[in-house]
Amino acid sequence: MDAISIRGNRPLYGRIRVSGAKNAALPILCATLLSDGESVLGNVPNLRDIETTAALLRFLGREVTLSYPEVRVHAPTGQVRPEAPYDLVRQMRASVLVLGPLVARYGRARVSLPGGCAIGARPVDQHLMGLEALGARIQVEHGYIVAEAPRLRGAEVVFDVQTVTGTENLMMAAALAKGRTTLVNCACEPEVEELGRVLNKMGARVDGAGTTVIHIEGRDELAPFEHSVIADRIEAGTFMAAVGAAGGDVLLEHAPLEDLEPVVVKMRKAHVDVEREGAHVRVRRGEVLAAVDVTTAPHPGFPTDMQAQFMAMMATARGRSVLTETVFENRFMHVPELLRMGARIETHGNTAIVEGIPKLSGANVMATDLRASASLVIAGLVAEGETVVHRVYHLDRGYEAIEKKLAGVGADIKRIRVEAP
Ligand code: UD1
Repeated sequence: MDAISIRGNRPLYGRIRVSGAKNAALPILCATLLSDGESVLGNVPNLRDIETTAALLRFLGREVTLSYPEVRVHAPTGQVRPEAPYDLVRQMRASVLVLGPLVARYGRARVSLPGGCAIGARPVDQHLMGLEALGARIQVEHGYIVAEAPRLRGAEVVFDVQTVTGTENLMMAAALAKGRTTLVNCACEPEVEELGRVLNKMGARVDGAGTTVIHIEGRDELAPFEHSVIADRIEAGTFMAAVGAAGGDVLLEHAPLEDLEPVVVKMRKAHVDVEREGAHVRVRRGEVLAAVDVTTAPHPGFPTDMQAQFMAMMATARGRSVLTETVFENRFMHVPELLRMGARIETHGNTAIVEGIPKLSGANVMATDLRASASLVIAGLVAEGETVVHRVYHLDRGYEAIEKKLAGVGADIKRIRVEAP
């Protein structure tokens, strides 16, 4: 099994290139199901979640060519099997993003229920409610969602909660529905806005993506597209937290500063300097890292996907910070591992109180989700001695060559082979 070994206590200097956004690439890959012909995506990150999506698209009858950062998806004529099996969905919850496109395009979809997830229950009721409003008949049988509709019809959908993939699923379905759809209380994440741009390239008329109300004029047919994926705001934010924790001066090439506004505000309060430099962003740590409180919220709030990394940074800040998680109910699994590295953190429900200490101490740690793993890597950068982060496959789901990127700016970090823990 792969693990990551880090010897901490070294500041970071140099340049890191930010990759394409995983959470933008996944729905865009699923949007290729809405048309025939060949779609070409650029700036796609080389990640396990992209491989899983490619496997899913292939299962559905598409030809997928991965030559990172370019990915081609071709729809050959012939049988389509509109089904996402348990084995693929269980590897990646975002597989549920094929539900909307499949039922809209083929009149039927059978998609495994994603089931539980390490960071909370994460139901898909809003996806199903929305598709039903568009006229789909939905049943859940044998652990599968079965959705059927000869042709979806435009409708008004009001989401009870803001859901990113729920909004995206409905946008894709509505793009092939008959008539106009209005989605209300939508997620406003930049990745949703990006999907709107792609659907417009395909010929749908999407208005308002990136705001809480989205209008979609459906089409009888959509066309294939070419698109270069936006930069990954969470990857960029993770490197900001790494510099904040370890110190130094790093130029993040093509970091999407506007999309990161809520994170940048908190970074600056913590005395991490973040400045635009042409198309890039320079990140520098001031003398003393200051404690800052954070509450996660849907965009444009502080992203839940940055909470764990920010907590790792706060572990060595001066003073006490309070981190509150409001998006997922069980997203503090990194805390016990950070405690093993000497951090002083107490949790009360969805709140974590972090008492900053000068140094962490290296240890064997493991994490159960993607962003938690990233937080442990950051902690390793400020720990005395060696830290070994196990179960790196979580990290590989969403970070392209993170150890190479950090080694490139002076971190003492490498991938190693270990016996399965
Ligand atoms: C997406 C991101 C993930 C991020 C999350 C929140 C992708 C592929 N993944 O996940 O990285 O952490 O947004 O920013 O883009 N909910 C319901 N019913 C539903 C759907 C969601 O109650 O039908 C709840 C969830 O349990 C959660 C909240 O809504 O509490 C937000 O979840 P959601 O935005 O749907 O997360 P994902 O789209 O799965």
